[in-house]
Amino acid sequence: MFVQWIFLISSATTISSKWISNRILGGHSVSIESVPWQTSLQKYGDHWCGAVIYSDKIVLTAAHCTKDASPSIFSVRVGSSNSASGGQVVKVSHIIVHEEYDQNDDVSNDIAVIQLKSNLKMGVGVKCIPLADRSPSPGSSASVSGWGRSGLDGEYSENLMKTTLTIVDWYSCLNSWNGQISKDMICAFEAGRDSCSGDSGGPLVSGGKLVGLVSFGEECDDPQKPGVYANVAELKPWILNAVHRLLKRNKKV
Ligand code: ARG
Repeated sequence: MFVQWIFLISSATTISSKWISNRILGGHSVSIESVPWQTSLQKYGDHWCGAVIYSDKIVLTAAHCTKDASPSIFSVRVGSSNSASGGQVVKVSHIIVHEEYDQNDDVSNDIAVIQLKSNLKMGVGVKCIPLADRSPSPGSSASVSGWGRSGLDGEYSENLMKTTLTIVDWYSCLNSWNGQISKDMICAFEAGRDSCSGDSGGPLVSGGKLVGLVSFGEECDDPQKPGVYANVAELKPWILNAVHRLLKRNKKV
């Protein structure tokens, strides 16, 4: 009987610790002031994806977050650690999806630039982040944040979570993913830590610069397959061009 109890207790602990480590996968809750560029992209008023503040008029996200949907169903919430309340909510006016993004193919160029209907009021919890000019070298530490799922069957987290990962060498990532990694992707990994669904489009930051946007992974926290991010340094020329097109478009109106 005693032995059975021990068994019961220890398996309960294993299950619960597994469950806990699945909450944004080894991360901890943070306040928006520590990642003030973090944005919640909302669809019909609910958290849908992550996004990143580029300027008071523009945010960046993953192309797959916007799919073929009309800009009018999207808004962003900035300046709040909670995805469902507080901060500022601003509607989306226009979206440019990378022309070579192909959701049916290999999900390369998973990036979109979003123009907002009104300007964000910048402040303590609302700041932009510079884009990286060079990809961080393998072994660099990088942090990822978001309101994504706490494990595959988990719920979206209302409180902003953040975790620290290590940049993976591009060729070893290519190997782990059986060749499905293109040059516009960068991989990051740490055992027991990962981004998950609902974090997509959110920031991967290293050395104070935006180095990636959450793109995809094999489930969440797969030990064989690092998380994959849109490589901001590689995509920077496209980003600058798309921002330029959006702002020019604005002037004509
Ligand atoms: N595609 C997911 C999203 O739409 C992001 C998945 C990231 N997964 C991972 N294991 N790093 O939110």
